[in-house]
Amino acid sequence: MTEPGAVTVSEAEPRTGTAVIETRGLTKRYRGGQLAVDGLDLSVPDGSVFGFLGPNGSGKTTTIRMLMGLIDPTSGTARVLGHPMPGAGRTVLPQVGALIEGPALYGFLTGRDNLVRYDSADPTADPRTRRDRVEAALDRVGLGAAAGKKAKAYSLGMKQRLGLAAALLQPRRLLVLDEPTNGLDPQGMREIRNLVRELAADGTTVFLSSHLLDEIEQVCTHAAVMARGRLVIQGPVADLAAGARGRLAVTTPDPGDAARILKELGVTGITADGDRVSAEAPPGDVELADLNGALVRGGVRVRSFGVERASLEDAFVALTGEGFDVAG
Ligand SMILES: Nc1ncnc2c1ncn2[C@@H]1O[C@H](COP(=O)(O)OP(=O)(O)O)[C@@H](O)[C@H]1O
Ligand SMILES: [Mg+2]
Repeated sequence: MTEPGAVTVSEAEPRTGTAVIETRGLTKRYRGGQLAVDGLDLSVPDGSVFGFLGPNGSGKTTTIRMLMGLIDPTSGTARVLGHPMPGAGRTVLPQVGALIEGPALYGFLTGRDNLVRYDSADPTADPRTRRDRVEAALDRVGLGAAAGKKAKAYSLGMKQRLGLAAALLQPRRLLVLDEPTNGLDPQGMREIRNLVRELAADGTTVFLSSHLLDEIEQVCTHAAVMARGRLVIQGPVADLAAGARGRLAVTTPDPGDAARILKELGVTGITADGDRVSAEAPPGDVELADLNGALVRGGVRVRSFGVERASLEDAFVALTGEGFDVAG
């Protein structure tokens, strides 16, 4: 059931029964003809922190909108918490906290009153405990001190956190966060990451999209990589990175000579940046010490030499043959 060209790492990964999100051939063609999501087979394990990774325009938000029943797929199916979407929205959505493309907030209301409004709109929420829920959610995202300020005075990061607080008013089995750290400074990003870890530790499955590779590597247990509406790969993050060969890295004040000599020795994928020359790690039968020796004999002053562990970015580049354009 894997899309041609997509790679599923670790077939031992539990699939049916424990998947919180499961899609089959999920496809969205917008009215203008744009094929935004193309035959997506996604499987999000229960309890995972699942990173949905891809450059801007790769179909992440469109997928999330289909999962949440906000738009209908052109073809294919989606199950969330075991139920078909959009059909079972009434059953599914109360168990899901979602933050999609910037929360809808009333600027003239305080952060606290925005949450009161959200909570009041939930027919299952007991009004007698509303105040407690709102204060707990504000605390959770670190907005306690700013809760009395009008939302229009909030920074982007504060608005994002308020949206997250709204998603956290009720205990949820699943949190779906579309680019939750977009527009945040490094400190704000760190806070969101810590929050995601805390939520995951409580057993909530977190599905979060991002166009930032290292963010996914830092917080996610599993990931799926999208490119141009198609799934490139999915699986446990550690396995995804391990699937790619690491990078050979040489630090030297003679990068030009180093690059030339490595090329002569048949090393591929050479790039030079300042005093750092990096390249695809050579196949296993090449003795690294021989490469280093050749550099030294060629007059290259080698300051450091080694193979670095593969990152998700290496895996992406290896699979798509293109760089991961962070700026989108
Ligand atoms: N409402 C829409 N109508 C037509 N095309 C759209 C619409 N929304 C998104 N797209 C297009 O679909 C593709 C995927 O977009 P999107 O799902 O927003 O990607 P991402 O969230 O990964 O940045 C893009 O080419 C985008 O321009
Ligand atoms: Mg998006």
